[in-house]
Amino acid sequence: MGWVSNFADLAKDGSLTVGIIGLGYVGLPTAIGFHDAGFTVWGVDVSQRTVDMVLQGKNPTGDPDVDDIVPQPGTERWHISTSAAEAVPNCDVVLVTVPTPITHDLKPDLSYVEAAGRDVFKSITKGSRTIVVLESTVYPGVTAQTWLPIIEELGLVIGEDVEIAYCPERFNPGDSAHGVRQVARVIGCSNPEVGEGLVALYSKLTSEDVRYVGKLEVAEAAKVIENVQRDINIALVNELARIFPALDVDVEDVLSAAATKWNFHRYTPGVGVGGHCIPVDPYYMIQRAADVGVPAGLITAARAVNRSMPSHVAGVLSDLMWNAEVPAGDARVLLLGWSYKAEVGDPRETPAEPLAETLMSKGIKVATWDPHIDFGEYPEGVEVISNIEDAKGYDIAVLVTAHKACLNLDWNKLLGQMRTPLVYDGRRVLDLDSLQKSGWQTYAVGKPV
Ligand SMILES: NC(=O)c1ccc[n+]([C@@H]2O[C@H](COP(=O)([O-])OP(=O)(O)OC[C@H]3O[C@@H](n4cnc5c(N)ncnc54)[C@H](O)[C@@H]3O)[C@@H](O)[C@H]2O)c1
Repeated sequence: MGWVSNFADLAKDGSLTVGIIGLGYVGLPTAIGFHDAGFTVWGVDVSQRTVDMVLQGKNPTGDPDVDDIVPQPGTERWHISTSAAEAVPNCDVVLVTVPTPITHDLKPDLSYVEAAGRDVFKSITKGSRTIVVLESTVYPGVTAQTWLPIIEELGLVIGEDVEIAYCPERFNPGDSAHGVRQVARVIGCSNPEVGEGLVALYSKLTSEDVRYVGKLEVAEAAKVIENVQRDINIALVNELARIFPALDVDVEDVLSAAATKWNFHRYTPGVGVGGHCIPVDPYYMIQRAADVGVPAGLITAARAVNRSMPSHVAGVLSDLMWNAEVPAGDARVLLLGWSYKAEVGDPRETPAEPLAETLMSKGIKVATWDPHIDFGEYPEGVEVISNIEDAKGYDIAVLVTAHKACLNLDWNKLLGQMRTPLVYDGRRVLDLDSLQKSGWQTYAVGKPV
């Protein structure tokens, strides 16, 4: 086991054993992808529930694209365990796909990367030169700063016992056109020989470009700035969505007009940015810039705009209900969708949560319906509706997540169940004209009232 000089040739014919540590949104489809590509796979997760479900051939994540593809019990070349110690000695290469959240004070939380790294390095066979690749999103410098001290402490030697590399995951859960087998990959590693070996390996996983980009920090930085750029672009349209209604102009009309120019990039405003990446990764970049004493003012300002959108929208909703003479102290809001992203049952960092909390802090009752979330934690006080037909007596329906199930619900029927016929499109995807014709009073983010 471990690095061999013909690693690239073995990768090309699928004769390597690949370990995946962390079987979540990223790790599970990655494990399945390498298995489908012909490799022997060892998947490890510390969660007994996750391991039990995967062993039963079930999908523990909220990504529907994974529903029907989890290998069934007894599948060859497919091993699942809660123990890195059991898995790692069998592996030539180990990919680490554990969470990289932020702490309450918005600082990077690298504890999972550290703990998973420790579990893996403790289990490495001396002399095996096993390649350990971090795929989690981090800021430049994390892979080396977090893992090299552990490697040293355990008495392992880079180049003899172990190699480390970084290859960020970029796939888009819930988007079958950009799954793990269709996204381009970049690989950072201080050893070009290992980097090129990994190019051969990942080229078996994805049909897109796989490139060795040099040192670890280049690949780490590339990933984080991809999400920083999205955060800044979205922040710009969210800011415009607050300015233009005050000028009695609909931001979407402005964006449609501007988008006729060849180099204008169109983004859509919304109730806020959610998920494990875009609202999190900029803090990693901000922290790293602060460490080296360089201001990251633009990134920080963009984050602040996007972070404030849920409370801005809560204020607008409250005003709309006030204007519609909804009884003070008994206003009721129905949030359509709770997860941060369409077609995925993932509530992490969802803007629905601060939106609901701000509304409740104003004494407004909040209920939500999200057909993609089977189980989840909601803030205390939020009523969870499992059947939209039971949603009765609300004053405003707010489209939070553009799930097809929300867009295509029976709007006439829901209108009949409302106490006040207000609808607010928090994603700019509803046909407001036809809703208006059928009797709804329609409002939307970025649209003048
Ligand atoms: N979800 C996405 O859309 C996406 C896309 C690209 C990159 N990423 C990045 O990929 C990383 C993983 O994200 P995710 O969405 O898959 O997270 P996730 O929470 O869905 O999955 C992580 C899994 O790791 C497991 N885990 C935690 N510590 C472990 C340990 N020590 N050993 C073994 N398993 C452990 C958890 O139990 C969990 O099942 C993050 O850094 C994220 O930023 C995520």
